[in-house]
Amino acid sequence: MKKVAVITGANGGLGAEICNLLLSQAYSVVGLDLNWTDNTKFDFQNWQSIEIDLSIAENVQQTFEDIRYRYGGIDVLVNNAGTCLMSDFDEITSDELIKQIEVNFYSCFYCCQAAIPLMIDRPGIRKIINISSNGAYNFDVFDPPHYRASKAAMDTLTKDLARRYAKQKITVNSIAPAMTQTPLFDVLDENTLSNAIAAMPHGTAMQPSQVAEWVCFLSGKGGDVCSGNIIILNQGRDVR
Ligand SMILES: NC(=O)c1ccc[n+]([C@@H]2O[C@H](COP(=O)([O-])OP(=O)(O)OC[C@H]3O[C@@H](n4cnc5c(N)ncnc54)[C@H](O)[C@@H]3O)[C@@H](O)[C@H]2O)c1
Repeated sequence: MKKVAVITGANGGLGAEICNLLLSQAYSVVGLDLNWTDNTKFDFQNWQSIEIDLSIAENVQQTFEDIRYRYGGIDVLVNNAGTCLMSDFDEITSDELIKQIEVNFYSCFYCCQAAIPLMIDRPGIRKIINISSNGAYNFDVFDPPHYRASKAAMDTLTKDLARRYAKQKITVNSIAPAMTQTPLFDVLDENTLSNAIAAMPHGTAMQPSQVAEWVCFLSGKGGDVCSGNIIILNQGRDVR
């Protein structure tokens, strides 16, 4: 039976790499994203893209019902959709705070709620991988407080679900990358970006393919006994 992986934020820099790597590992991949301007970067044979705003609970429920109907279940869920809104603390409006939490945390929460019932009857060890951020842990870098909080909430959900579903053989982990070269870099001004890259020990940003390799590892057999962990990827920047 072909394994089914659902990736959110699949049209973004990191999401597209994750989809392509899992496609190369013979998964059927369903990519969810707000925008599908360019669908040409995927191997179409085992690929489906769905346009959806994941911050709306009813959309998520309906979409996962459609996935159940078409594929019968889910083996891997990667909650990768997210953004980073850049206002300073004293300028964050209530609308911006809500949007930040909705996109980064509610979407993950809703997708976990909708996906777990589709995972329960699948064979083997099923995987949920949440894409968090170093920003939840490193307070030297620029990340705004609502972004940090959204990822900290995600990581607490990771631990709760890891514990809750351990006996059902569903593993739940977070991957928390630092500076990874994707279109999300556009939210930063030139100075902030170059300082943040200079602080990386290798002197370069990480590449989306390097983070995707970790998603692939956790999705495969190597990830079977790993659950409830927040895996920090940052070239060793914060080791003291
Ligand atoms: N790039 C980095 O340096 C970095 C570092 C740490 C964490 N992250 C995290 O990695 C994840 C992927 O980010 P990226 O760097 O590839 O950025 P990206 O902007 O290239 O991709 C994000 C994708 O999420 C989608 N998305 C946003 N809101 C959505 C919604 N409501 N519904 C559905 N899709 C939505 C966007 O359309 C986009 O395709 C994010 O969660 C981000 O916080 C990135």
